[in-house]
Amino acid sequence: MSDLPEQIGELWQRRGELSPADTDARRIVVEVVDLLDRGEARVAETAATGEVVVHEWLKEAILLLFTLSEMRTTELGPFEYVDKIPLKTGYERAGVRVVPGASARWGSFLDRGVILMPSYVNIGARVGASTMVDTWATVGSCAQIGERVHLSGGVGIGGVLEPPNAAPVIVEDDALVGSRCMVTQGARVGAGAVLGEGTILNPAIPVVDAETGEELSRGVVPPWCVAVSAARRRELPGGEFYLPCVLVLKRLNEGERHDKAKLNDVLRTHGVSA
Ligand SMILES: CC(C)(COP(=O)(O)OP(=O)(O)OC[C@H]1O[C@@H](n2cnc3c(N)ncnc32)[C@H](O)[C@@H]1OP(=O)(O)O)[C@@H](O)C(=O)NCCC(=O)NCCS
Repeated sequence: MSDLPEQIGELWQRRGELSPADTDARRIVVEVVDLLDRGEARVAETAATGEVVVHEWLKEAILLLFTLSEMRTTELGPFEYVDKIPLKTGYERAGVRVVPGASARWGSFLDRGVILMPSYVNIGARVGASTMVDTWATVGSCAQIGERVHLSGGVGIGGVLEPPNAAPVIVEDDALVGSRCMVTQGARVGAGAVLGEGTILNPAIPVVDAETGEELSRGVVPPWCVAVSAARRRELPGGEFYLPCVLVLKRLNEGERHDKAKLNDVLRTHGVSA
């Protein structure tokens, strides 16, 4: 793997000239995407300082894969698909449960104990051990989802592929993301946080402490708290408007599960969706 970053860097420099006919280039890119698929490389990680480190060359490899791949038709019963990227395989060996209707693209990594209800996981995404991806949830390209997370029904985790240095969405271990939340553009949900249904979180959305009124961040929900969608009043030339914000309602002790989060365990045990 040692010189792969260099080789990808070189291919990236001349990406305008590449095509699916460049089999040597494709071989290198496939080798890199295989590393992502097996979980031996990851697009981004959180450093000890809390900073998100993005491994740009891995994202470049994913983007190159699209340039270097032909469209192919797949037929499955009455269904027909036309795409450049195959689906993941080998779930039983990987200890992953995949309910019919779920699909994950090759180049995403699903760790042991992951449950995919009918949902979608895109290339470059990483889903940690024992995480539940509930019905109609989507995990966008390169998103990094921790262990024991619950992505509830209809959650949209945005994909961040371009530019290669852009940080993907990160949801840390033990978080519960409520139904139909939209977490996009490199937003972050801290460990053990509970995000109420329908919350929109992106790097422009203020996260406010309900007790102090302090704006804690933009687009980052702190660890071990319960946060819900709220609105803040803004006076603009056109009148008075209410723009979304995220309100941190309460703080949890580290390791404490919010009562409603216990539902998570019930759902997991019975393999049903909410
Ligand atoms: C966010 C959540 C944890 C809050 O629960 P809670 O701590 O018991 O809080 P409460 O229900 O007492 O509500 C507290 C306040 O937040 C408000 N609130 C609750 N959920 C909200 C939401 N999703 N969006 C906005 N406000 C919300 C309540 O109206 C209440 O306001 P009030 O104090 O003015 O009456 C809860 O709504 C929840 O569990 N959501 C996730 C559920 C889910 O999606 N499950 C799917 C997987 S099973």
